[in-house]
Amino acid sequence: MKVTLIAAIGANNELGKNNQLLWHLPNDLKRFKQITTGHCIIMGRKTFDSLGRALPNRTTIVITRNKLMAVENVVFVEDLKQALLTARKLNEVHCFVIGGAQIYSQALAYADSLDITHVHDSFEADVFFPSIDLKVFQQIKNEVFQKDETNKFNYTISSYEKIHKKVPALFLDRDGVLNKEIGGYITNLEDFEINVAIIPFLKKKQEDGFKLIVITNQGAIDKGLLTHEQLLEINNKMKLAYAESGLFFDEIYYCPHHNEVSVCLCRKPKSLMLQKAIARFNININESMMIGDHERDRFCAEGAGILGIIIPSNEVEVLYS
Ligand SMILES: NC(=O)c1ccc[n+]([C@@H]2O[C@H](COP(=O)([O-])OP(=O)(O)OC[C@H]3O[C@@H](n4cnc5c(N)ncnc54)[C@H](OP(=O)(O)O)[C@@H]3O)[C@@H](O)[C@H]2O)c1
Repeated sequence: MKVTLIAAIGANNELGKNNQLLWHLPNDLKRFKQITTGHCIIMGRKTFDSLGRALPNRTTIVITRNKLMAVENVVFVEDLKQALLTARKLNEVHCFVIGGAQIYSQALAYADSLDITHVHDSFEADVFFPSIDLKVFQQIKNEVFQKDETNKFNYTISSYEKIHKKVPALFLDRDGVLNKEIGGYITNLEDFEINVAIIPFLKKKQEDGFKLIVITNQGAIDKGLLTHEQLLEINNKMKLAYAESGLFFDEIYYCPHHNEVSVCLCRKPKSLMLQKAIARFNININESMMIGDHERDRFCAEGAGILGIIIPSNEVEVLYS
């Protein structure tokens, strides 16, 4: 089964705002219908909400954590792996992941190809397509379309195919590296401030083809001081702050456990979060490194065969020396 991510994105990877699209390009919508009809489409629950109905003549799979969802002609599944497995069980030959941002970012690792409409303008957005790593996806086709009376923007339709090659990754501890360590748990948005001095370092790594992957212990969740939703909000604040500088995290892995409360395999210094990332993104461990501000980050990295670099909390400038 072939997996293609199909999306229309702005000049800064913008996808949508307030659960709506940012432009109206009827010709591109017609093309979308033509390409996906007769195949399987996979989407997140929010994108499904924004469409408001199942699209006809397509196997429609919607990903949600809500086990109670039921709509005629729609298959609801609990995660992307289940979505892909369901499509395979239904003997689908070509599966299109149609969004939104959350689902694209999860599906990129499984994509064989990308079908991207690049809209030639910038937009205010609250969700973004993940960065397209040109070391992983090779552009094989480009077709430019000029604006007209009904299609108000110029756009280019680009096809990308995955190059089967391992990629390097920069694994990043969060607190003390990407944002200010405050000496306690960050449980509200106000306390979250990024370490801007790390931006040029990350940009260079991103330009060099490194995946940027956050590996963070969030034991405050286990202790009842933080909810998953609050953490998601804080992480979204971080993503948006870095996106302003053109930086996109390929994934944020967090361990919600704390050893005073429960036992797990993921909390650093254990390496499970890294190992998941290595398998999912086809990472070359010999070219990758992890930056943290605790010995547990180094142990975690070395447990996965990766070089660990320890910096003093918040002193990200040392990365340039
Ligand atoms: N420009 C384009 O081509 C394009 C295409 C599609 C969408 N969009 C835009 O993208 C926006 C929507 O994107 P979005 O990122 O906010 O939402 P989304 O990806 O469409 O859906 C997110 C939802 O999917 C479910 N989900 C995500 N990850 C999951 C997981 N690991 N396990 C189980 N369920 C999971 C959750 O549903 P529950 O909350 O129900 O659990 C989550 O709230 C809208 O603005 C839309 O217009 C743009």
